[in-house]
Amino acid sequence: MQKRTEPSEALLRKYPEQVVLVTTRAADAKPNVMAVGWVAIASSDPPMFVLGIDDGAYTYELIAKTREFVVAFPSERMAEQTLFAGTHTGRDRDKFAETGLRTEQAVTVRSPLVADAVANFECVLVEITKPGDCPLLVGKVVAAHVNEDTALRRLYTTAPGHKLGRVCPLGDQKPVALISQWRNRWSLGRRPFRSPVGTIENSPAIHGRETVHGTPDCYCVPGHVGRLTSLSENPGC
Ligand SMILES: Cc1cc2nc3c(=O)[nH]c(=O)nc-3n(C[C@H](O)[C@H](O)[C@H](O)COP(=O)(O)O)c2cc1C
Repeated sequence: MQKRTEPSEALLRKYPEQVVLVTTRAADAKPNVMAVGWVAIASSDPPMFVLGIDDGAYTYELIAKTREFVVAFPSERMAEQTLFAGTHTGRDRDKFAETGLRTEQAVTVRSPLVADAVANFECVLVEITKPGDCPLLVGKVVAAHVNEDTALRRLYTTAPGHKLGRVCPLGDQKPVALISQWRNRWSLGRRPFRSPVGTIENSPAIHGRETVHGTPDCYCVPGHVGRLTSLSENPGC
């Protein structure tokens, strides 16, 4: 049964939200990278992305000028860099240098690939439109790349406040080890959650895991159960 509410409240149920890194490079400047959550496939043939990018962002200025960019899918290991890229502007920071994000040369655009990303898409700008308060930038994919490490998983925004983490498939044992590595850095936790495929306690990915610290939080999407790892709150949001 549905209860009518404000769109802003209903939108709090949208998580996990995918997050991408968008790289740019002006002809005479160092490359830049920003985090973008408002991203979707806009066409499959030809392949296109649509990105909602605030026109105050340095990235917007660079894309409008150069008419090209790269969309990279950050891996779940790149939460810290992604948060940094999403909370500092390239107008006064060298975000690649400060985060240590490694780059590779793209084949058709000047914007760099993110070397350790799950996948990279070189794009040329097709159009900018502004149906609401946020400009939408449509980019046609002109080249695509995937990481040779097929075990790498994507990073997601898992809750409001720019909390970033993984969503892991049921039955996959690997997240336990990864979460252990992260335990001392970020608050982790869970609460009982019934998924279409079983309770979180039944998930082999979660079963028998370590002591929980911090705010309980747990995640489920159809057919998938995952646990959230939270970065520190982003004071800028
Ligand atoms: C997880 C995350 C998602 C974000 N999503 C968007 C987005 O969809 N659109 C946007 O304009 N800014 C978004 N931001 C904020 C920008 O990344 C931020 O304003 C950034 O500093 C812009 O960098 P730049 O000035 O170097 O382009 C997001 C930030 C984070 C941390």
